[in-house]
Amino acid sequence: MAEFVKIAVADEIPAGEMCGYEMNGVKVGVANVDGEFHAFHDCCTHQQYTLTDSFLMGERLTCDWHGASFDIKTGEVLALPATKRLPKFEVEVREGEIWVAVPAADEIDLPPE
Ligand code: FES
Repeated sequence: MAEFVKIAVADEIPAGEMCGYEMNGVKVGVANVDGEFHAFHDCCTHQQYTLTDSFLMGERLTCDWHGASFDIKTGEVLALPATKRLPKFEVEVREGEIWVAVPAADEIDLPPE
């Protein structure tokens, strides 16, 4: 069961940027797309590369390792070799703080390493 936890202060993540965090054993990425925050599992669904070490252009998140890309708003796969959508997490901004509904680590399917 996902539980909202405070992840960051909104000012830490400027528009067009993303940051990675770890909460209860789950890697959480948060991206700021034109002032709208999106949280996701910070792990490429192809082979577990850390996506916040990769490249965000507009709403397109591209993995540095083999070039898969995802729609940051929906998690939909936009380019192979990933075939599974990126898990998205609910986000709320509360008085300048970013709160994310982080699932338990065993609720997330990990791709091969
Ligand atoms: S690990 Fe991301 S494309 Fe392969």
